[in-house]
Amino acid sequence: MALTASENTGQSWSSGITFMLAAVGAAVGLGNIWKFPYVAGVSGGGAFVIIYIGCVIFVAIPVLIAELLIGRCGGGSPPVAMHSVAKRSGRTGLWSVVGWMGLIVGYLIATYYSVIAGWTLAYILKAANGFGGATVTDVAQQFDELLASPGTLIIWHTVFISLALFIVGRGLRRGIEGAVKILMPALFLMLLVMIVYAAVAGNFKAGLEFMLSVDFSKITGRVVLAAIGQAFFSISVAMGLMMVYGAYVPKNVSLTRSAMIIAGTDTLIALLAGFMIFPIVFANGLDPAEGPGLIFKTLPAAFIGMPGGSVFGALFFVLLAFAAVTSIIAILEPIISHAEGRWQMQRRTAVVVFGFLAWLIGLATIFSFNIWKDVTPLGMFEVFSGKTVFDLIDYFTANVMMPVGAILIALFVGWRMKPELIDSELSFSSTLLFAAWRWALRVVVPVAILAILISGLR
Ligand code: ALA
Repeated sequence: MALTASENTGQSWSSGITFMLAAVGAAVGLGNIWKFPYVAGVSGGGAFVIIYIGCVIFVAIPVLIAELLIGRCGGGSPPVAMHSVAKRSGRTGLWSVVGWMGLIVGYLIATYYSVIAGWTLAYILKAANGFGGATVTDVAQQFDELLASPGTLIIWHTVFISLALFIVGRGLRRGIEGAVKILMPALFLMLLVMIVYAAVAGNFKAGLEFMLSVDFSKITGRVVLAAIGQAFFSISVAMGLMMVYGAYVPKNVSLTRSAMIIAGTDTLIALLAGFMIFPIVFANGLDPAEGPGLIFKTLPAAFIGMPGGSVFGALFFVLLAFAAVTSIIAILEPIISHAEGRWQMQRRTAVVVFGFLAWLIGLATIFSFNIWKDVTPLGMFEVFSGKTVFDLIDYFTANVMMPVGAILIALFVGWRMKPELIDSELSFSSTLLFAAWRWALRVVVPVAILAILISGLR
């Protein structure tokens, strides 16, 4: 499978800045604003934050650099790029399996991501009309009612995925770049406005204390696995998209610096999301450890009693929807780029075919919250007991496929990739940093992920 000119679709970002906007947009998503605060909320606040930052620095960033490197060096979609780099390093083309894993993980994530992002669209309207004058208890019930209505969920899932597919269908520059150039600055601005609101109308001190107070007794193998899975999910590591975004990066852009900026900004925004949400939660005497319902039950309950609650509530969900759009367009790109480059499909045809299939698979996630909520396909195994179809997709992508994919990427670049190829793409500011990165990939990343996988799965 030699790389031909048409397989490497010849596309590139119009500048380093637009690449950064797109990559930060890909990273910052539901993971930062929906998942990070609630996972931190149930996993020991500040202690989780410290473990999380450690996972970002020592595990996620080295793998992110490796993925961008494979992407730019190999060109094309993740399987094509992995195959090309393996061959040019004198290794077996079977390494393309790693690219396939990333592509499949990303695609599976896209199917449920659109469903959850659909909830945020529904909540923009709900928040704007003050949740219909509901009381605190009714507000929580509104979320349960939403999850219990497959029809409504299907409508919002359809609206969201259509929007994402429309953007992806317009191509790299007119679609993805055009969208991130508007959505990302708007997202930063909204985040700032919301933090000021949280500081003024919320209990900022309590929120800050909660995010920064350290309770190591809550840290278990499972929590560390959650931290590493969350770091991968949030930075978008091992889901194929950073390889394909890397394939479009002009040669003069530093991949190492880009990786630090992407991971740094992503982490900062996850923390800021906590600083935005918890002061509001505490000001209203609500529970920070509510779990996945934190922003759909707890936060709305807070907004209904606050000055300007409906305006800022709606703004919050618009912010979340913007973050989700710039992520899902990236999550869908690996398969579209593969269909375009490798299978010679027209971009628009690929978008329609794979978009429709993703929509269809997404229905399984929707039904997992209502008509299939008691269906547990792997329930005969203790570790999967009680897990719905959605839980299984989430579990296998986040806890199995992404960590395993990351180990393989680390081992390949650390031990198997030809040093001249690495040198031609990467510039480290010192040889010490380069050695640290290489040994992180060779030893730290595989050992850490394996140890965490084993202890977390037990
Ligand atoms: N990185 C994306 C997120 O955080 C997938 O939502």
